[in-house]
Amino acid sequence: MDDVLYIRKMAIENNDFFGSSLPMIASENVMSPIATEMFISDFEHRYAEGKPGERYYQGCMYIDEVERRAMEMGKKLFDCGYINVQVISGTMANLAVFSTFAKPGDVLTTLNTNVGAHISHQRIGAAGIRGLKVVHLPYDLETLNIDVKGSVKLIKEEKPKIVLLGQSLFLFSLPVKELSEAAREVGAEVVYDGAHVLGLIAGKKFQDPLKEGADLLTGSTHKTFPGPQGGIILGNLDEEKAKKTDSAVFPGLVSNHHLHRLAALAVTLAEEMEFGEAYADQIVRNAKAFAQKMNELGFKVLGENLGFTQSHQIAVDVKALGGGTEVAELLERCGIIANKNMLPYDDPKKPKNPSGLRIGVQELTRCGMREKELEYVAELFKEAIIDRRDPEEVKRDVRELRKDFRTVKYCFYESDAYTYRKIV
Ligand SMILES: Cc1ncc(COP(=O)(O)O)c(C=O)c1O
Repeated sequence: MDDVLYIRKMAIENNDFFGSSLPMIASENVMSPIATEMFISDFEHRYAEGKPGERYYQGCMYIDEVERRAMEMGKKLFDCGYINVQVISGTMANLAVFSTFAKPGDVLTTLNTNVGAHISHQRIGAAGIRGLKVVHLPYDLETLNIDVKGSVKLIKEEKPKIVLLGQSLFLFSLPVKELSEAAREVGAEVVYDGAHVLGLIAGKKFQDPLKEGADLLTGSTHKTFPGPQGGIILGNLDEEKAKKTDSAVFPGLVSNHHLHRLAALAVTLAEEMEFGEAYADQIVRNAKAFAQKMNELGFKVLGENLGFTQSHQIAVDVKALGGGTEVAELLERCGIIANKNMLPYDDPKKPKNPSGLRIGVQELTRCGMREKELEYVAELFKEAIIDRRDPEEVKRDVRELRKDFRTVKYCFYESDAYTYRKIV
């Protein structure tokens, strides 16, 4: 029993910690109360291999309904004809697509990690696991974006099977249209990894990659899309390609698809249809306001000439203030949770002490903060990092601010996101 009590103590303390801090990791979010409820439903205990109505086990009639409804809502929300809601992470969504559209030895073009691409796009990640040859697209430090001319040339020369677009440090929309045209010429599939910006796409506040020419949109369902940890694949595919993609997920990569996650995803899809546009709008407003204020307070925020950001993220160069590692640790002592991050001019071979911080505003927005609060948060960053005020004092102000912003908004039955729900 001691071990049980200890684990539970850790969980309660973790709830308290996040509920009294400022969570600003760009890849995280909190679920709505009803989505959370799905995690303690009996769905959590069950298997449902196969498709709705064509399962390998009995007892699936209720999850069949949930899965059908999730698929219908997802197709409607993202305005597309194909969806897979069985894939259990964004990385697996990428691997399923890599396995469907390329074989070992084929070329995949993507960005490098220092300019924002995800590890699953790389040789040491899912792309390498599939045996793909990863060729990096050129990047333009002036526009903080893909170098279109250079990339079109590279795609024509390398003739990849997959042109992968999308980032983990994702500030601006990407030239999907231009690169899709080049991809078509060489017969490549265009895959847009929207893990970070999925909720902004759903809320119509970011580019719609499927309308701009991408064949597939992969993503995580727990970043700006505020659902359960999991993945999704969306697109407009013919029947044969759709079948192959589904088979790569099941039986290829997933046996059971975590039915409590699926039910929570269905709830979140329904809530996004109702509240998604307002939520995405406020996220982008908050990110811009926060970036502007940080810049005014003396921080070196990337993209000053470009409006700083179009997404939920901002990137700050803190090299002169101690570097990404030191500054992220200092912030943690102040109750502000963000992560160190490579910036586009950092050496991709040295990710351990990068120049930057990546900051996301999606969770604080979900808890009701607006521009005014985010501007105050920027002031707390200044006090912590530039003024080097006592971290305990900053933390006190963080706790005070957070007290009024713990309720999950943009959903039905708003309630406190961080209260630990004790069973006994
Ligand atoms: C661009 C991108 N793709 C894929 C992933 C992987 O998502 P998951 O953690 O759901 O596997 C991430 C994770 O942060 C990401 O940033």
